[in-house]
Amino acid sequence: MSNFPSDKPVVVTCGLPYANGKCHIGHLRTYVPGDIFVRALRKQGQEAVFVCGSDAHGTPIVVNAEEQGIAPKELVNRYHKLFESVFKAMEVEFSIFGNTDSPTNHARTNSIVEALIQNNYVYPQVIKLAYCPRDKRFLPDRYVEGICPYCEAVARGDECDQGCGKHLEPGEIKNARCRICGSPAEYREQEHFFFKLSAFSGFLSKYLNTLWGTSNAINYAKEWAKDLKDWCITRNLEWGVRFPGHDDLVVYVWVDAPIGYISFTEEWANRTGNDWEKYWKGDSRIIHFIGEDITYHHCIFWPAMLKGAGYTQPWAVVASGMLKIDDKKFSKSRGYVVWVDEDYLDHGFHPDLLRYYISNYTSHTKELNFSWKVFQDKVNNELVGALGNFLHRTLHFAYKNFGRVPEGEVDKEIFEKIKSTTNNVISALDEYEFKKATDEMMELAQYGNAYFQSNEPWQLIKKDREACARVVKNCLQIGKALILLFEPVLPGNMEKAWKQLALAGDVHSARFEDGLIELPSVELGPPEILFSKIEDKKIKEMEAILDKRVKLAKSKEKKIEAEEVKPVITFEEFQNLDIRIGTVLAAENIKGSDKLLRLEVDIGEKRQIVAGIAKSHDTSQLVGKQVVVLANMKPAKLFGVESCGMVLAADVEGAVLLMPERKVREGTKVR
Ligand code: 2FM
Ligand code: ZN
Repeated sequence: MSNFPSDKPVVVTCGLPYANGKCHIGHLRTYVPGDIFVRALRKQGQEAVFVCGSDAHGTPIVVNAEEQGIAPKELVNRYHKLFESVFKAMEVEFSIFGNTDSPTNHARTNSIVEALIQNNYVYPQVIKLAYCPRDKRFLPDRYVEGICPYCEAVARGDECDQGCGKHLEPGEIKNARCRICGSPAEYREQEHFFFKLSAFSGFLSKYLNTLWGTSNAINYAKEWAKDLKDWCITRNLEWGVRFPGHDDLVVYVWVDAPIGYISFTEEWANRTGNDWEKYWKGDSRIIHFIGEDITYHHCIFWPAMLKGAGYTQPWAVVASGMLKIDDKKFSKSRGYVVWVDEDYLDHGFHPDLLRYYISNYTSHTKELNFSWKVFQDKVNNELVGALGNFLHRTLHFAYKNFGRVPEGEVDKEIFEKIKSTTNNVISALDEYEFKKATDEMMELAQYGNAYFQSNEPWQLIKKDREACARVVKNCLQIGKALILLFEPVLPGNMEKAWKQLALAGDVHSARFEDGLIELPSVELGPPEILFSKIEDKKIKEMEAILDKRVKLAKSKEKKIEAEEVKPVITFEEFQNLDIRIGTVLAAENIKGSDKLLRLEVDIGEKRQIVAGIAKSHDTSQLVGKQVVVLANMKPAKLFGVESCGMVLAADVEGAVLLMPERKVREGTKVR
């Protein structure tokens, strides 16, 4: 039995993009499946509101606007418009695309925070916060950089983004520095407000057993629910939703962002004469599509907040896996990014092709790799070779030989096949298995091709026109079912195909089950080709664009390294370094390490030194060479071997040893 249609009101949301940058394929990994899901719900007779919008607040937006010398509002409006236009172009059709800075969201956030305060889920606490004495301001979230207290990686104030990925509470980060001026931050005390998340541990543990969605989200959340820390929900910022009664504080962006889901439903309901409360206060089905990196917020923080304020909690959380580009971790700074406008739409690619790639490359919860080559293969073999080929050869043959959909009945066997495929597609979608669903659809196209091929209608027409008409009718019926099944994935092309089959009404509002209604014998026009092959030349061009971006990013990185300047030191400080010339007496590999060598060096006295030069230097070639040694380096043990000194080398891949210009006496000082 399928989950839909249900008599409960359904609202589907997609994680709100920060209005702080352009739309890339990583974003689409959530929005395209969300859109496919909603279209498929409607095809099962399930009405659903589809809600999304810009996430307008938070420190990164303030930092970015400040860097650009514009107001945060201006920055947000710019990206809001950009996202809206890309979604439209990609045929991601939200019922509403709101903005969390809207008056409705300010009001709804206020009312929810007030309710949490009323219900004793918010308490004040004086905490130590990073403060920049030079800029004379508190440093919330990304205004701070420092060291993660859990894994020691370089982190920003609210998240260990390069290390363990943990959410960091204000005041947790070590060695904090101001991001604006680079000075070390001081810690100052200030009163902030905390949400009693820990009080929801019991509730969440039970609730998570009833939550639907994908296991990647729910299983992690069950573990987290066992040990919850309270969340600081206020920040010292101007930009955001005011914390009630405190003019100097706004709520943390993760409070007003998900509340946007409610406010946007409210705005949509006001516009269309609907009742938003039936979705958020009644017995409803709230389905969140998110990226798996924000599972904690949606499966822990958000349901607790909704529960605490007396709202309905999510029915399902669907988390998509992360994205790779050419098998490299997606990274804007390293150039591994594909922008939806300038790298895809602007090159004339149809939105349907990417929608298919995203839904069919791999399971929704797995890592999705995007490469232009695979994109080309999937388009050419599957969309052109299987689906496009079947629809075109069928329509073309019918038009040329009959001029219309032939009279007569469709075989029972064909209807059986359509029925079983439709059921399989629906049950795959019920489990958010978009790959399984689209594989089933494609399998029906392959079945159609095999049926056409084995019945040889081009021969049959010469011998038995009636038998041929029956084959063609069967093929056209498969075509109709394919169009309906594929519409959620390929809305643009399936709309065209629907017209080519001269079907009445709108393919977008037709149902899956209409695939079992026999085609009327209507007149057909000449069909146009739906999908065309992508040439190698085009793919090379696209690969070159990506390549260039990665190279540019690399050269920028190198420049930054070269420009990394240490603080000035005095001559006295330099004199603390005892640097001497030595001659290598012996060199050997260290067991268990492919990087380290054990050296014996004469620097006026014999020293044992461990050096990380094994990959670039042969032991036999080192003996007799003179090297530069930091003689007063604190002794350390490496792989069990004591090292008393350090051999100096230029820090490039493969380490280049420094050597004196001519041979000098061992122990000669370097100044
Ligand atoms: O991580 C993000 O990109 C956030 N802007 C998602 C917000 S989703 C929500 F809860 F509003
Ligand atoms: Zn960490």
